[in-house]
Amino acid sequence: RSDFSLTGRSGARVVILGGGVAGLAVAYELGKAGYDCTVLEARARAGGRNLTIRGGSVETDLDGHTQRARFSDGVYLNAGPGRIAQWMVTMDYCRELGVPVEVFTNANADALIYNESAGMSAPVRYRTAKADVYGYVSELLAKATDQGALDGRLTATDKERLLSFLQSFGAIGGRTAGWAYAGTTRRGFVSYPGAGNDAGEPLGAPPALSDVFASNVGRYFSFELGYDQAMLMFQPVGGMDQIPMALARAVGHHRIRLGAEVTDVTDRGREVEVTYRQGGRERLVRADYCVATLPPHLMARVPHNLGGDVTAALRGFGISAAGKIGLEYRSRWWETDQRIYGGITETDLDLAHVWYPSYGYHGRRGLIVGYYNTGANARAYSALTPAQRQERAVTQGVKIHGPKYRSELVTSYSQAWDRTRYLEGAWTSPPWGSAGYDLLLRPAGRVYFAGDWLSHEVAWQHGAFVSARTVVTALHERVMAG
Ligand code: FAD
Ligand code: PHE
Repeated sequence: RSDFSLTGRSGARVVILGGGVAGLAVAYELGKAGYDCTVLEARARAGGRNLTIRGGSVETDLDGHTQRARFSDGVYLNAGPGRIAQWMVTMDYCRELGVPVEVFTNANADALIYNESAGMSAPVRYRTAKADVYGYVSELLAKATDQGALDGRLTATDKERLLSFLQSFGAIGGRTAGWAYAGTTRRGFVSYPGAGNDAGEPLGAPPALSDVFASNVGRYFSFELGYDQAMLMFQPVGGMDQIPMALARAVGHHRIRLGAEVTDVTDRGREVEVTYRQGGRERLVRADYCVATLPPHLMARVPHNLGGDVTAALRGFGISAAGKIGLEYRSRWWETDQRIYGGITETDLDLAHVWYPSYGYHGRRGLIVGYYNTGANARAYSALTPAQRQERAVTQGVKIHGPKYRSELVTSYSQAWDRTRYLEGAWTSPPWGSAGYDLLLRPAGRVYFAGDWLSHEVAWQHGAFVSARTVVTALHERVMAG
């Protein structure tokens, strides 16, 4: 049972529906064990949502908008996945496949916060916002502690320890200063310290406590603490699609049929028949097993004989929208003028997040992700033409970055995942714990299901990989037992 090679047996034939990360990982792992795998992928390239746009990339969306990216050499947009946490199995695949990785800057003290609805007249640096929020929260907690408000919870020793922590955490004054927060050099400088007697000019006194909370700058501080988003984060050198490209090479391109749209799945009992359309012709593949990795809402539309309960279960997933735009600039003004080298600016504008590139520092050109939004914001942008999306994103971005956001722009490319053929969504919200979800964790006859939607790491390649590995193990155990 622990044998993971089929030496001496004829390798079982497995047809894999979908050539995203999950489908490729299934083919890769089964291929190692000698299985005869065929991947059917409807799109013109493998990778699925793992999509990197470079100069020359062409995509036509469901509304018929065709975009041909005109990015310069070396400039790219990770239109889908952009970051990997260190603990994710995605990192192991990068190592095993020889895909070099580099740090993805997911948090940057010099990136900005801009909350228009709070009436902010100008963006504030993360470091400034953190200094003020930590400072005032520390002041309030220190006062409450020292005045005995927490005596029911804290011993005298606890109180001294907490006060000492708060003094350093918030850079607040001591007992004699009433624990007041009065600013700190952590806020940043108008001019940084220099030579000789130049002590620099600190940013000065913080806004009043009530103004700091009114500006809501702390709204997004918790993001970088998440188990999935905490630094360090990583990205493959040269684009996220280095992962599916390496997987496809390892699987063997001859095993991956591109432009192959699955149109029917029939379990014949002793084998599975899958029909697909390629180049205008219907074709058929017969295999011993099938692994279906299409997004569930699309798999639900494929005719099959696996039962109405399977279709109902596939329909039971919520579908989220997300979009990104890549804005190529002729200069890296965010580095030269604003001293922002990577990281993310957080806004309450409909563009949500602005990403600065974590590669190509000090290069001539560069690409900013001008929006990365989800839900209603994503749908609002995806309803527009690509030119309108650019205009809207730039108009919003100028509020944060000023006129260069428009004047230095060279070209853009935008991805609307809800309008992307063969995907029609960014990720799912699975009905974990439901009978339908559990049904899809088991094979329907000879057909298995895999993808990030069958994991607890939805919207992460990690989820796609671990789901694929679970199915590979189950399938192999069945073959070995049979
Ligand atoms: P998919 O990639 O969806 O693969 C399904 C495949 O099925 C596709 O290739 C599709 O073309 C194909 N298909 C559909 N219909 C048919 C048909 N009829 N016949 C044949 N083939 C068909 N992950 C991270 O690790 N880090 C991130 O930072 C991150 N950010 C993300 C940001 C965005 C905007 C998005 C959209 C995703 C992000 N993800 C991220 C998630 C990651 O992209 C997915 O978890 C992963 O790529 C899913 O792989 P999959 O193989 O399960 O699914
Ligand atoms: N994994 C995606 C990303 O990192 C989607 C996601 C966003 C997941 C935020 C969790 C939190 O962009």
